[in-house]
Amino acid sequence: MIKINKHYTKLEASYLFSDIARRVSEYTEKNPDKKIIRLGIGDVTRALPPACIGAFHKAVDEMAADTTFQGYGPEQGYDFLREKIAAIDFQTRGINISPDEIFVSDGAKCDTGNIQEIFSRDIQLAIPDPVYPVYVDTNVMAGRTGRNVEGRYEGIVYLESTRSNDYVPDLPEKSVDLIYLCFPNNPTGATVTRQQLRQWVDYAREHKALILFDAAYEAFIRDNAVPHSIFEIEGADEVAIEFRSFSKNAGFTGTRCAFTVIPKKCRAFAENGEPVSLHPLWLRRQSTKFNAVSYPVQRAAEAVYSEEGQQQVQGLTSYYLENARLIRNKMSDLGYQCTGGVNSPYIWIKGDLDSWEFFDLLLEKAGVVCTPGSGFGRCGEHHIRISAFNSYDNVVKALENISQALG
Ligand code: MLT
Repeated sequence: MIKINKHYTKLEASYLFSDIARRVSEYTEKNPDKKIIRLGIGDVTRALPPACIGAFHKAVDEMAADTTFQGYGPEQGYDFLREKIAAIDFQTRGINISPDEIFVSDGAKCDTGNIQEIFSRDIQLAIPDPVYPVYVDTNVMAGRTGRNVEGRYEGIVYLESTRSNDYVPDLPEKSVDLIYLCFPNNPTGATVTRQQLRQWVDYAREHKALILFDAAYEAFIRDNAVPHSIFEIEGADEVAIEFRSFSKNAGFTGTRCAFTVIPKKCRAFAENGEPVSLHPLWLRRQSTKFNAVSYPVQRAAEAVYSEEGQQQVQGLTSYYLENARLIRNKMSDLGYQCTGGVNSPYIWIKGDLDSWEFFDLLLEKAGVVCTPGSGFGRCGEHHIRISAFNSYDNVVKALENISQALG
């Protein structure tokens, strides 16, 4: 008898963003004349930067001639891309990361989901609440949790992010082994200071723990006091793995390219307590299960690091940040407590309604799709997340509709 992985039966029936898409399509079927503005899932709407498109086309042409054609690439990514990432994202900021510590992939979602495979089943997890659901669900699938009881899985230490801690969780009281952090945060848009990050790094060093640091939104940071990478903190290279993406900075959500940084010094521990470097384990995993990102896509990603690519990415992220500013200002004017929207494309809004009621209200009265906060965890109840990823005109229109509906 073929049996299923029983841990899948503990999961909520569907993934948050699939649930929202289903609700929205039910609504549009019933109301075909109503125009909907989507500020829900954080999916970019603007075209790839011209620098990336030029490199993409050129690489496709290379694939068209036997002399320049590329077959399987290195599973960890081509050197031409890894060298640029190491130099421009890290070394220019004084961070000592080398190209061979970078693993190019098809997405931070996949990497943050897959990385847990290299850790033991019986580790103690610490996961923020609210949180990007992938961190939780992939650990449920792997059998690291008990049942879901009133929206929380048994066995996880939840790191609560609320107004009282400015949505930056406190260190856990109980000793934990694997800690997920994301800054600028999805969903709250909150950022962390270097001093706060240092406390987490010190904690991980002291407790022989490891931090998985999701920095997918770092390109939206404009404030010099906000760290772009956990590796800005001394000693983090022994206790942290960082995830980055080209999705939100250069608009690669449909093109797919990201990378994970695992310094060679980064360690976990064997059964006998001996430190073990994680770099060769991830290399082994990737070379067994992954066959790299396509050559043209890696060439397109490389173009992000050209001078014009850097300017164009700055232009794209500034465009979405202006949307974020408008959303935050309008929702604040309407009397809502907002966080994020500065150094972040997400605005986290506190209301009085149940968060799915708030979602339905905006959909039905304003034709605006947001994300209900409770979908990110219990602490997200009474919140919604509005994303700045849409055109300026649509954001202005959405805010007019919201003002009329709620004002
Ligand atoms: C989100 O809306 O939270 C993001 O789009 C999710 C993702 O990047 O996978």
